[in-house]
Amino acid sequence: MTIIRGATTIEMDCKEEISSAVKELLDEVFEANSLKKEEVRGFVFSLTSDIHSYHPAKAARESGYDFAPLFAAVEPDIEGGLRKCIRLMLFAEVGNPVNHIYQRGAKILRKDISEIMNIALDGPAGSGKSTIAKILAKDYNILYLDTGAMYRACGLKALRLGVDYKNGEAIAKMLPLLDVKVEYKGGKQHTILDGEDVSSAIRENAVSMAASGISAHACVREKMVEMQREIAKGMSCVLDGRDIGSVVLPQAKYKFFVTADSKVRAKRRFDELSSRGEMVDFEQLHEEIIMRDKQDSERASSPLICAEDAVVIDTSNKTIEEVVAEIKSCIQSKI
Ligand code: DC
Repeated sequence: MTIIRGATTIEMDCKEEISSAVKELLDEVFEANSLKKEEVRGFVFSLTSDIHSYHPAKAARESGYDFAPLFAAVEPDIEGGLRKCIRLMLFAEVGNPVNHIYQRGAKILRKDISEIMNIALDGPAGSGKSTIAKILAKDYNILYLDTGAMYRACGLKALRLGVDYKNGEAIAKMLPLLDVKVEYKGGKQHTILDGEDVSSAIRENAVSMAASGISAHACVREKMVEMQREIAKGMSCVLDGRDIGSVVLPQAKYKFFVTADSKVRAKRRFDELSSRGEMVDFEQLHEEIIMRDKQDSERASSPLICAEDAVVIDTSNKTIEEVVAEIKSCIQSKI
């Protein structure tokens, strides 16, 4: 069971306004979530105590939302709280993520979801950015776009075709054959290469170097950056990568550069690969991380750099919870 939330406000406490505000809210909740009647299990409204003229549940029923139980209750008065506000919790059997809807004056309650929110999270390999990005996406109920996965798919293609990923000419020739897509199932990103779901295959260690190498070519970057911008334009999302704050979305309001000591990062990768049963040597992994940092930072085309307006976070001695809390408090201060 999933809960879709919503809220709206009225200016005048009268039947007409309450009815139209409730209808407008429910209409958008249904449209934005492509909801079907049979998926809905119930509607719960709450209203601030300054609303007396009409019952929101009755207003909903009269607007045709009479196919599931409706309930409404008055909220306690909270000093400084939003006035003349009607909130909704809709229970439905749908997958995540869902779109919560905040309309009229209630937008102020959730600017994080009523405005398109792009969070740029850049940093070197193993800095913890993908773990952080996944938590932020889940907590804010927005999409997570793992841009590294897209370059990994490009690297995998070159490996499969036996094309040298360092050879610019060969890669330019391969480009028209490169069919990379991202899809979302149950809120999780799946990376598709030539119609095949390669989400697991791209995580193998051999693909890491190929991804780093192939991502140095401007022609590859152009193609991937265009896709990333297209996705970010239409919806709130958190993107992690190397050039999100500097090149992909330089206008993003929330930018973070996450980093950590190379040994700490190598240890994280070591633990991750070991837990998946991949046998790796720690020292070799550390050297590879350093090489990848160098390759990613020194390439001519959009190298790994910290955007001037990004907040830098060193995760070496911090828990993920601490880092997430720090990022959220920065976001909150800008909302
Ligand atoms: O984050 P990752 O390790 O999955 O990324 C794989 C490689 O892709 C990385 O070495 C650099 C490259 N990359 C990039 O150049 N630009 C991005 N936005 C994301 C990743």
